[in-house]
Amino acid sequence: MADTLSIQGADATYPMIVRPGALVDDLPRFVAGHGFTRVVVVTNITLAPLYGEGLVGRLPGGHLIVLPDGEEYKTLATVETIYTRLLEEDADRSTLVVALGGGVIGDMAGFAAATFMRGVALVQAPTSLLAMVDSSIGGKVGVDLPQGKNLVGAFKDPLAVFADTSVLATLPDVELRCGLAEMLKHALIGDPPLLDHLLARGIEPAEAIIRRAAAVKVGIVAEDRLERGPRAFLNLGHTFGHAIEKVSSYQWKHGQAVAVGLVAAARLSAHHGLCSPELPEQIERVIESSKLPTRCPGLDPVQLWNAMQHDKKRQDGTLRFVLLEGIGRPAIAKDVTRDEVIDILKELTIV
Ligand SMILES: NC(=O)c1ccc[n+]([C@@H]2O[C@H](COP(=O)([O-])OP(=O)(O)OC[C@H]3O[C@@H](n4cnc5c(N)ncnc54)[C@H](O)[C@@H]3O)[C@@H](O)[C@H]2O)c1
Ligand SMILES: [Zn+2]
Repeated sequence: MADTLSIQGADATYPMIVRPGALVDDLPRFVAGHGFTRVVVVTNITLAPLYGEGLVGRLPGGHLIVLPDGEEYKTLATVETIYTRLLEEDADRSTLVVALGGGVIGDMAGFAAATFMRGVALVQAPTSLLAMVDSSIGGKVGVDLPQGKNLVGAFKDPLAVFADTSVLATLPDVELRCGLAEMLKHALIGDPPLLDHLLARGIEPAEAIIRRAAAVKVGIVAEDRLERGPRAFLNLGHTFGHAIEKVSSYQWKHGQAVAVGLVAAARLSAHHGLCSPELPEQIERVIESSKLPTRCPGLDPVQLWNAMQHDKKRQDGTLRFVLLEGIGRPAIAKDVTRDEVIDILKELTIV
């Protein structure tokens, strides 16, 4: 079907349906078609009244688990609450868990589904733009530890992903822009014409453009499910972005930090002699016109550098930067020096 992408999982491919109404029509039909008689929808307090309660009413044997809203709750303690609530609802190995929410709920409910009774069936129902184009794809689930983000996790393929684009109507504008930052990243690593489209028309028409941005990740995951090679390209802008999040004590949202990270990666690419000096200017224009930040004034370059040293993507003690040889041509650089990075950070942190 034109509105369905096929995602490569560990054992089989699974469908991702991107369509307005997917939560009303497709998901209930899928659940009934698979014969599930007990379904637990995991969501948060913001989304429960908007979409959770309605969805549960359309599912056979549906129950709702409502969690607090926010990255600060993406912890093992909240996962334990999910286990407890699952037991209260008499969940067993034949129960289906539906993760209804943004990336926080997707990661956390997905991790609970991966581990409860050694694993129960999962469906991802992403409601944020970021979750639709990024976090619901590829099977990575997990939680944060006090020491850092996403330090505990698993690979858990859902049976299917249902992205109902009509729910984006209630997504706050700042969250929409954070999702847009990841779409720009996908365009930069794998779909140059998508970049032109985002520049000219934004994310309209949403279904087609979301599907297109999602397809970049779907393609990379198919090549490299377990993140041994090209999947690292998805981290473009993220080494810088994660450092900005950390040094700002998470005052910066992920997508906003990634936007500055994309500018930093483009500047570093030019500085490192990988691409033309025009590329960073072009990328800055795109990010600016998407109303995303291109600078992080006031943050300390040395602190940012130090924060990068704890990046989960480090290997053998060296940082690997995803850089660009051009639009649509990502490359990994292992020989970037501290001085080069500090120079770029100084440019971007001037008040
Ligand atoms: N697993 C992966 O591969 C992967 C990839 C990227 C990011 N992530 C994770 O995703 C998380 C970020 O996801 P996010 O940006 O979706 O954040 P989020 O889940 O916190 O959602 C952002 C906010 O928007 C609200 N919201 C979501 N959908 C809404 C809707 N339709 N209407 C109204 N409000 C809505 C949420 O309640 C929340 O307050 C991070 O924890 C990150 O680590 C995971
Ligand atoms: Zn990201």
